[in-house]
Amino acid sequence: MSGEQRSLIRGLGGYLPERILTNADLAQMVDTTDSWIVERTGIRERHIAADGETTSTLAIRAAERALAAAGMRADEIELIVLATATPDQTFPATAARVQAALGTASGGAAFDVQAVCSGFLFATGVADNFLARGQFRSALVIGAETFSRILDWTDRTTCVLFGDGAGAMVLTAEDPKSAGDRGIMGVELHTDGSKHDLLFVDGGPSSTKTVGHLRMQGNQVFKHAVVNLSNSIESVARRHGVPLSEVDWFIPHQANQRILEAVARRIGIDEKKVISTLAHHANTSAASIPLAFAEAVDDGRIRPGDLALMEAMGGGFSWGAALARV
Ligand code: ACO
Repeated sequence: MSGEQRSLIRGLGGYLPERILTNADLAQMVDTTDSWIVERTGIRERHIAADGETTSTLAIRAAERALAAAGMRADEIELIVLATATPDQTFPATAARVQAALGTASGGAAFDVQAVCSGFLFATGVADNFLARGQFRSALVIGAETFSRILDWTDRTTCVLFGDGAGAMVLTAEDPKSAGDRGIMGVELHTDGSKHDLLFVDGGPSSTKTVGHLRMQGNQVFKHAVVNLSNSIESVARRHGVPLSEVDWFIPHQANQRILEAVARRIGIDEKKVISTLAHHANTSAASIPLAFAEAVDDGRIRPGDLALMEAMGGGFSWGAALARV
């Protein structure tokens, strides 16, 4: 291959565990109510992985669906980049398990990236660069999480917000002449490590030798999320000469309906163009963007040729945005 290649989105797939935990169920576990959760977050229910289901098993199901949507076989995939903050094990990478289960192309590579709720964008950026350079010709980009395993189920300020799930996207490298204007146009990524303590897990192999639980200063995260997401959306659109009014769909990381609405108001986005799965998925961290993307493609909202803008913010703080013509 010669010259820079373009990463084309060939197919998407999502997978949610069967078990549903409703707000009413949570009200039996901690001092909360359905109305508090709905009013403050938009969340009504979330899916929870069964015993024996892990991040890799969810990822495998989502990847199989993305491959089917792309009309491709697993052995045609050369690269797997899997975003997760809840790996099956400290090592090897969860992506290695997914690779073994799917049977992707021999001689390829599979690894994890960790940027918490922004992980899918970071994984997309990594895969896009490898494809653009011609180092691999095809990639599975996966966001998969089992946040239920790192929640403190006695802490009402965090346990009501998250759910489990996985989403996957197949990318292939195409000659820009044949790709036309389709494909990933750009990915913008940022990290501000000084905000590390506002959203973190209080354990880890090197610090406590434990897995730990998620801790968060929710209102601080909220404020930074609205500003950082708004700036990223405007910046990636400006960089590629696209007026926000020309974006067909905004596919945000699903943290809180109030964050989605505040961002839309701040930068003048039509809320009808914002894909929201919060009510039924809650916050599935790195899985939330590909899950929302897959759902909106499956139900016919997002169609080939549409301009989509993905955006996310999470622990680190990490955040970013990506622009793609589907
Ligand atoms: N049920 C009932 N009451 C609750 C609950 C609950 N589940 N959780 C908190 N409260 C109480 C608090 O104790 C507090 O009570 P007090 O006034 O007596 O002290 C009151 O509700 C208000 O608490 P706040 O934290 O100020 O509530 P806020 O309006 O900020 O909403 C929330 C909290 C939903 C966490 C919000 O701050 C938020 O969504 N922040 C973003 C965090 C986020 O989404 N993080 C995910 C990872 S990062 C990302 O994805 C962007």
